[in-house]
Amino acid sequence: MKKFSVVIAGGGSTFTPGIVMMLLDNKDRFPLRSLRLYDNDAERQGVLGEALAILLKEQAPDVEFLYTTDPEVAFTDTDFCMAHIRVGKYAMREQDEKIPLKHGVIGQETCGPGGLAYGMRSISGMMEIIDHMERYSPNCWMLNYSNPAAIVAEACRVLRPNSKVLNICDMPVGTLRRMSQIIGKQPKELDVRYFGLNHFGWWTSVKDKEGNEYIDQIRDYVAENGYLTQVEVDTQHMDESWQATHKKAKDLLEVDNRFLPNTYLKYYLFPDEEVAHSNADYTRANEVMAGREKTVFDAARKIVANGTAENSDFHIDSHASFIVDLARAIAFNTHERMVMIVENNGAIANFPDDAMVEVPCIVGSDGPEPLAQGRIPAFHQTLMYQQVMVEKMTVEAFIEGSYQKMWQALTLSKTVPSAKVAKELLDDLIEVNGDFWPELK
Ligand code: NAD
Ligand code: G6P
Ligand code: MN
Repeated sequence: MKKFSVVIAGGGSTFTPGIVMMLLDNKDRFPLRSLRLYDNDAERQGVLGEALAILLKEQAPDVEFLYTTDPEVAFTDTDFCMAHIRVGKYAMREQDEKIPLKHGVIGQETCGPGGLAYGMRSISGMMEIIDHMERYSPNCWMLNYSNPAAIVAEACRVLRPNSKVLNICDMPVGTLRRMSQIIGKQPKELDVRYFGLNHFGWWTSVKDKEGNEYIDQIRDYVAENGYLTQVEVDTQHMDESWQATHKKAKDLLEVDNRFLPNTYLKYYLFPDEEVAHSNADYTRANEVMAGREKTVFDAARKIVANGTAENSDFHIDSHASFIVDLARAIAFNTHERMVMIVENNGAIANFPDDAMVEVPCIVGSDGPEPLAQGRIPAFHQTLMYQQVMVEKMTVEAFIEGSYQKMWQALTLSKTVPSAKVAKELLDDLIEVNGDFWPELK
């Protein structure tokens, strides 16, 4: 069987150990010859790199392993780049969340003004790693988790239309895992129909392989409990703030109960409530730094101190399994059905062809083939159209260096109450983002 060479870009990410563990766990299904980490922060990546070097030496000595900040070393002779960079790191995520809250607006990693600010930072970082990949390994596929995925995907569509970059999100998989628990199935036993944008979509069908439909049963459960389940479903999306998010799906469903909502819709449908429940001095970035980041880096330091990865605190989650399944689907032409972010081109019949949408696809060696989801109701179409234009205008603002377009993008966001607030926000965001953003004129 062919063996693959993988580079993880954003090697210092809190999600790197999980993905590495998952790759090792799947070596019989997805054989590895080489695994590399790449990051532009040597110190951060070094902590994880040193620990993972010990782990690989013990658990997979046949796999060549290294970590580097040199793009040539990282990207030469690679088959897959699994990317999850965070341009500006948690320090800037904290700003994305806190600045909007000061203006009474949603402060969130990927939704609302914070997401647009993050988008403006991510585009150059993403284009840079795509270029490294294509320069040193022209046939390599990039499987990209880096957020904000909607804006990154639109930027890829416009700026790198021929690049082999697949943008993905783990929320549909994470929520499907909860749904499968609700109906007593395994996620892999289920096929879904789904339409939307990234962090902005709905399930229209959840069936088993025999064709039995479970959407009504799940809807009844969600109407009572949201996606809160009794059983621990994962290591991800478990903090208290996430539990509130899963529960909130109950209210989202009340707004329109034809389909099952993605939890991220709460920022657009209930922004006032979300702002009221936010603490402008302690946001999700603070929670993640005190939680996941600390846990993962402490676990790495423990491995290094002990000189062994035996009984390590690294663990696998559905985030890692999705990206490994995707690599496998491409490597072995498995034709697995997966929800991906792709150019619409008719998949949603009454939505623009050139919109980056999130829909189920059949994934094989040539990449994803989107499945037609038909026409969508006016309510969903209108919400989506407004949001997709926000995303497109942000990318245009980036490319043209246009202050006016960025102001309009912010004004158009459903999370922002007026052009006045949008402008005040923009001026604050420009100031704190400094050189992370292109100059806007
Ligand atoms: P993190 O800050 O722990 O890791 C990101 C790493 O990227 C850091 O080590 C940083 O130094 C590095 N980095 C930043 N800019 C870079 C550049 N230009 N080139 C190379 N490396 C660079 O963040 P995290 O919480 O582990 O999340 C990582 C990313 O994955 C984020 O973008 C996050 O939003 C995304 N994510 C996406 C999904 C999804 O559903 N698509 C799910 C989970 C996480
Ligand atoms: C989900 C989303 C990701 C997002 C993450 C944030 O998994 O799909 O796009 O980055 O949540 O989680 P965090 O724990 O960092 O707040
Ligand atoms: Mn996501």
